[in-house]
Amino acid sequence: MKKIIIANWKCNPESLAQAKKLFNSVKKGVKDLKNLEIVICPPFTYLSSFKFPSFAKASEDKQDSSFKMGAQNCFYQQGAFTGEVSVGMLKDAGAEYVIIGHSERRRNFGETNEMVNKKIKAALGVKLKVILCIGETAEERKQGKTDDVLLEQLEVGLAGIPLTTNYLPAGRQGKLKTTNLLIAYEPLWAIGTGNNCQPQEAGKARLLIQQEIGEKIPIIYGGSVNAKNVKSYLDVGYNGVLIGGASLKSDEFVKTIKDS
Ligand code: PGA
Repeated sequence: MKKIIIANWKCNPESLAQAKKLFNSVKKGVKDLKNLEIVICPPFTYLSSFKFPSFAKASEDKQDSSFKMGAQNCFYQQGAFTGEVSVGMLKDAGAEYVIIGHSERRRNFGETNEMVNKKIKAALGVKLKVILCIGETAEERKQGKTDDVLLEQLEVGLAGIPLTTNYLPAGRQGKLKTTNLLIAYEPLWAIGTGNNCQPQEAGKARLLIQQEIGEKIPIIYGGSVNAKNVKSYLDVGYNGVLIGGASLKSDEFVKTIKDS
C-alpha cells in the first residue's frame, strides 16, 4: 500500500498566486520520492486552477510518487442550496479526493454523523475518494469515552455503506471498493495545538478502527503532525498522515514528506 500524505490547507492561503507559489515549492522539493501519494486539498476556488497543468506535470516528473488533488468538503445534493458545492462539481474541477467530517466542519458548521453519512454516499457515488475524519474531544477523552465516540462516528458515518472486509457489521452487504475510502483519526485536542497524540495512544485508536472496518481500508493520523513526529505514526501502523499547519510552510512540509 502506498503511503499517503494529505495536506489540508483549510481556509488558506489568501490568493491563488500564493497558493501556486506554495504548491510549486513543494513540487520542487519532493523530487525522487518513491511510493508516496501526496494529496493537496486547497480551498474550493483554487481547485480548477490547479487541475492542469500543475498536477499533471508534477505527476509526470516523478516515477513513483504522485500529486493528487482533494477538496475539503462537499454537499450531497445539487440545486437550490445557496453557497454549497456538489460532489459532481468537485469531480469536474479535477478533485480526486474529498475530506468529509473534519472536526472543524462538525464543530463550527454543525455537521452531524448523519450529514457525514449522506456526504460520503454522494461522494462515493461519483467515485471521489473519501477521507472520513473522526476523533474525540479533550472532554470525551477525559471521561474515557474515546472508543465509544470513534465507534459511533464510524457506525453512523458509514451506515448503509457496504465494506469489503473480514468484519461485516449487521446490515451491511455488498461491496465497496475499499480503495475509495480512507479513515483519518484526528483527536480534536491534537489539531492545531502542537500537542500531538502520543504514538502509543494513536496506535490503540488505530487498532480499534481497524477492528471495526477491516484491514483493507487505509487509516491515517492527523493532529499536529510535523517532520519530527511523522515517522512515529507510520511506525505504529498508520498508512499515512493528514497535515494542516505544517502543510502551509513548504520547507516544513517537504521535510515532513522526506522524513516519512
Ligand atoms: P494540524 O491540522 O496539522 O494543523 O493539527 C490537522 C487537521 O486539521 O487536519
